[in-house]
Amino acid sequence: MAAERAAAYIRARTGPSAPTPVCGIVLGSGLGGLADRIEGAVRIPFAEVPGFPTATVAGHAGQVLVGMLGGRPVIAMAGRFHMYEGHDAALSALPVRVMHALGVPVYLASNAAGGVRRTFNPGDLMVIADHINLMFRNPLFGAVEPGDERFPDMSAPYDAALRALLHECARATGTTLQDGVYCGLTGPTYETPAEVRMLERLGVDAVGMSTVPEVIVARAIGMRVAAVSCITNKAAGLSVAPLDHAEVMEAGRAVAGRFEALITEFVRRLP
Ligand code: HPA
Repeated sequence: MAAERAAAYIRARTGPSAPTPVCGIVLGSGLGGLADRIEGAVRIPFAEVPGFPTATVAGHAGQVLVGMLGGRPVIAMAGRFHMYEGHDAALSALPVRVMHALGVPVYLASNAAGGVRRTFNPGDLMVIADHINLMFRNPLFGAVEPGDERFPDMSAPYDAALRALLHECARATGTTLQDGVYCGLTGPTYETPAEVRMLERLGVDAVGMSTVPEVIVARAIGMRVAAVSCITNKAAGLSVAPLDHAEVMEAGRAVAGRFEALITEFVRRLP
């Protein structure tokens, strides 16, 4: 299996005495700065990992990092494989399978997202409480992978205790954290104003182009999941400005300090 080959390669690079990471983190657009907080990191370019395609989006460094964060061993992926790059949903979730193959028990996703809830502003952070999959693809299509279930339960994809821990860490680090529903679309276009009004009626708080396939796989293989969205812009039609990737990246960088403090504290306090 591709995940096992990639995991074996990463293990070989980190050495046999490397501790099992307590958490696997995927860093979203503009949020890659957390990588610099990882101490003693072994950095492996995606291009060197067997089975990993190279990341193409500006702002995604495309590296696996294994090291210490908040005094705990972690593995992080700076960059991800988006469906809008042409990857199928299963491939976009491959990093999660690799983390699982390395024995990682907790998956923490992060992403840049547009704010659909009208009170959301650029720079807000939101814990994902639940999601809606409007990517019209599921990473579990096809034959059941060894260890997977055919019909995984999705009644509580985002772990309640981990969400509570994120809120505790937000209080401890002095950052405001919202709670809301994330909707995944494939992109690469941003939404139309009519689509954003539809999402609003569906109960969506934030919209993005990632995370959902990864979370589905993580739950199907029994990992505990938490996820944080960084609201980089008001969704289309909710402000007069057109949407622009450079602005999304800039808003990500502006919130980076608070995001990094929150995630570092979360890892430190993980049971
Ligand atoms: N829509 C979809 N994805 C996004 C957005 C958005 O407005 N902002 C950042 N990622």
